[in-house]
Amino acid sequence: MTVSELATSFDPLGEHYDDPYSFYAEARRDEPVFYSPRLDAWVVTRFADIDAVIKDPAVFSSVNSLRPIRSPYPATIAVLMNGYPQTPDHVTSDGEAHRRMRVPYSKYLTTPGRVKAREVAIRKRAEDLIDSFAGDGTTDLVERYAGPLPAETAAELFGFAPEDVPLADAGSRSMFSLGSVDLDEAEEEQVAHTVLAFQKLLSGYARDRHAEPADDLVSAVVTALVPGQEPLTFEQESELVGTFASTFGAAHITTADGIGSALWLLLSDREQWELLCRQPELVPYAVEEALRFEPPIPGMFRRTTQPVTVAGVDLPEGADVLLAFASANRDEERFPDADRFDVTRKPSRHFAFGAGVHTCVGAAMARLQMRIALQALTERLPGARMEADQHVDVRKSINIRGPLGLRASW
Ligand code: HEM
Repeated sequence: MTVSELATSFDPLGEHYDDPYSFYAEARRDEPVFYSPRLDAWVVTRFADIDAVIKDPAVFSSVNSLRPIRSPYPATIAVLMNGYPQTPDHVTSDGEAHRRMRVPYSKYLTTPGRVKAREVAIRKRAEDLIDSFAGDGTTDLVERYAGPLPAETAAELFGFAPEDVPLADAGSRSMFSLGSVDLDEAEEEQVAHTVLAFQKLLSGYARDRHAEPADDLVSAVVTALVPGQEPLTFEQESELVGTFASTFGAAHITTADGIGSALWLLLSDREQWELLCRQPELVPYAVEEALRFEPPIPGMFRRTTQPVTVAGVDLPEGADVLLAFASANRDEERFPDADRFDVTRKPSRHFAFGAGVHTCVGAAMARLQMRIALQALTERLPGARMEADQHVDVRKSINIRGPLGLRASW
């Protein structure tokens, strides 16, 4: 196989990290499906091709969908051996196994009125957070607002006690950072210990709710996956710990990145921010546009179950495929003037929440939180400005993207 210069140059965690978009524009035009030696994966960049791939789960398995960029260090693996083994969860399974684990989440989260019922509590949480820094005249909006709001909301949804939020937050972030290029061996070993503490917290909740269900997401999932009164086996506990760990992270880190990126985009463009402050009815549009423009999950992997042709390119069986949502969301064929962030853009389907059988079950919850976060901040601090000369760092990951900090003053 000959690999083109364009494909060889693709460096998503290096040169193309801060701005992957100009590279992707070139790829969509010149080589929309290419093999990346750096990722050892085929990268699919156009909206229509991703749509076809993601809707064909029999040929494109999700078994590797959260594949890290490298394997964890041996010391990390040694620590993790003391915890629960990694088992396939709803995100990384296919067919009936996937359906069995997805249904309890989707039933709980799409029960009419359940998400909406949380609106008042989320608004109060947003107000309280703003109160905690409004008098200071300056803050880091990611650390004090975009991060805590979804962590606290997700914890309440899962049924975690408020005092467990810091460990749930740190534990899920640690889990998602295993295999990241930012960590050296000693740092990752430390992170693995936090993952173990998080697993212990989750197994405690799984056992408690199995014995005595409450009105929360953990109870709904435990009751559906392990009906009956028999004590949980180690295998059942492992499955529950795995699914809760990945869903808690999927629920709050992504939403935090969604709020963080929306604020970053808006505060970097005074005209758009002021327009939103003047016309709050545009907030739902701004949420959709931020999700399109900077999707918190810029890409997910799939693995081919048989030889297949995508946009004229032959892929062998067992090939890893990166679905570049961040690229598809800027595809000019689909979104006119795609590189313009425009809060008045009429929303249309994008890939921030994926598509097909694995479509995000928490999209309504995420949208509600993003809307409230923008509404509350534009009302309370319309004079907020990003602090000048600030380099906004983003997490070095293929799967998750959002600002790590955002200093603003008013
Ligand atoms: C802005 C915030 C969010 C974004 C960008 C996001 C994005 C996504 C994406 C792209 C997928 C598809 C994965 C795939 O195709 O392999 C997904 C799946 C999922 N999301 Fe979200 N999500 C967000 C918030 C949430 C929330 C708040 C929850 C729960 C309360 C949640 C729960 C899930 C679950 C359980 C799945 C797995 C569904 C399955 O595999 O069948 N997400 N999410």
